[in-house]
Amino acid sequence: MPTEAAHSVSLSLSPGLARELVAAAAAAPSIHNTQPWLWRLDAGGLTLLADGSRRLAVTDPEGRQLLLSCGAALCNATLALRARGLVPQVTILPDGDDHRADPLATITVAGQRPADGAERALSDAIPLRRTDRRPFDGRPLPAGAVARLRAAAEAQGAWLTALTDPDLRVQVNVLLSRADWIEQHDAAYRRELESWIRSEPAPDGVPRGAVVAAGATRQAEFPMRDLDPAAPADPPPASEPGVERPGVLLIGTDADTAADRLRAGEAMQRVLLTATALGLAASPMSQAIDVEGLRDRFRATTGGLGQVQMILRVGYAPAGADPLDPTPRRGVDEILTTGD
Ligand SMILES: Cc1cc2nc3c(=O)[nH]c(=O)nc-3n(C[C@H](O)[C@H](O)[C@H](O)COP(=O)(O)O)c2cc1C
Repeated sequence: MPTEAAHSVSLSLSPGLARELVAAAAAAPSIHNTQPWLWRLDAGGLTLLADGSRRLAVTDPEGRQLLLSCGAALCNATLALRARGLVPQVTILPDGDDHRADPLATITVAGQRPADGAERALSDAIPLRRTDRRPFDGRPLPAGAVARLRAAAEAQGAWLTALTDPDLRVQVNVLLSRADWIEQHDAAYRRELESWIRSEPAPDGVPRGAVVAAGATRQAEFPMRDLDPAAPADPPPASEPGVERPGVLLIGTDADTAADRLRAGEAMQRVLLTATALGLAASPMSQAIDVEGLRDRFRATTGGLGQVQMILRVGYAPAGADPLDPTPRRGVDEILTTGD
């Protein structure tokens, strides 16, 4: 068996391979489809950088959701490398933790090993994953599925817990509603959101067709982020019978450094890809994470869990639901630079 060192020259990342990895990375979800990432290929490997011009100044002043989004892109790139039988070596924040100026992560190839079936299934799910905001049917999440989703988060150094305790569900609901109320009554937030909702074809932003207006008649246990800027700040109460009670998963980390937020993004994406492979639908409900004051309340509510980094709504799309169109992405040439 040849050693990894013996392969070091042939295992360097070629520009062609880098393009494939970056294309896979670009399919990742991002807050408001801002795609706040850039990539650079040089002798040191393939480097992920934050695109600070795409940070949401009002919604995301700390760059927390930017780091989660970039973590999701990093997860895709490493899975794409594994699917090609190569072993990634990922260095998070190689130059320090100033994520506004420094690289977020560098990927090099450490060796060769064929991908196993689970890794291939995750990689195959990359182009199929969608944010599905439509109502789910009433089926609960099977315990076996939750165990697989938890293992996916843990594989990326994060934790995952399913929100099943009725009292906790009420408290999380209150926090999500409060966050929604605060943001919907913030004119700057609404202006920023509107600037990322697209009625015409565009390479970024959320297509209007992917938005399910919160003002529409819909009864759900948890309020979703209202992505419809035209909706009234206080929508009329829903009148349809039957309350949607989705599975809710909390993903978090023990600490809250920039590296933790990146890892949480990797974990979120591995969970979303695992859900896709299991035939589950999912959408983030991150509004309670935006509002820093509410994050403290969240921490108190979920006492002892650590830092909640993401809230996912997970369930089954109703039988016969139309497949969702992919949302647009910027091209590889716009986000990858090559050369030293
Ligand atoms: C960090 C993060 C936070 C997000 N928060 C929300 C949210 O609060 N509500 C929502 O409906 N979608 C949310 N999304 C989903 C994005 O809007 C979605 O990923 C983007 O529009 C691209 O669509 P796609 O996921 O179908 O590819 C979030 C995604 C990320 C990565």
